[in-house]
Amino acid sequence: ARVLILNGPNLGRLGVREPEIYGHASMADLEREGVRWGNDLGLAVQVRQTDDESTLVGWLHEAVDTRSHVVLNPAAFTHYSYALRDAAAQVVTSQLLLVEVHLSNPAAREAFRHYSVVAGIATGTVAGFGFDSYRLALEAISNKLLG
Ligand code: DQA
Repeated sequence: ARVLILNGPNLGRLGVREPEIYGHASMADLEREGVRWGNDLGLAVQVRQTDDESTLVGWLHEAVDTRSHVVLNPAAFTHYSYALRDAAAQVVTSQLLLVEVHLSNPAAREAFRHYSVVAGIATGTVAGFGFDSYRLALEAISNKLLG
């Protein structure tokens, strides 16, 4: 099965950006690890990042058209982008899996991070485990596909 790991704004700055919150590893590291975890699970994984809302919406449309499951870190869009939510909803209603992930635990941070507009349509959410959030999301997808 195909899985797109999609990352939203500022996540290209991983390693440089607030390392005490987001860690010292980079997006290039996540790309490498994500593909490797996918190989171990028999999933064809692609890792992408953009700061642009319309690009992210387009990738979700692509997931529907190519029958790809999605691991989505919407970053700040999590908290306010109804366009992203609507695009993510189309993935789930197409009988594809969509796991929302976060490096940090937004529920333990500022109040504006406590609400996710994506959570209500996602298959499930993994938050608070750094890169392991993504690995756990891939494992959850693999397990669910195996039934
Ligand atoms: C984040 C949490 C969001 O609140 C924040 O805007 C991010 C990253 C995370 O992975 O912990 O950019 O999605």
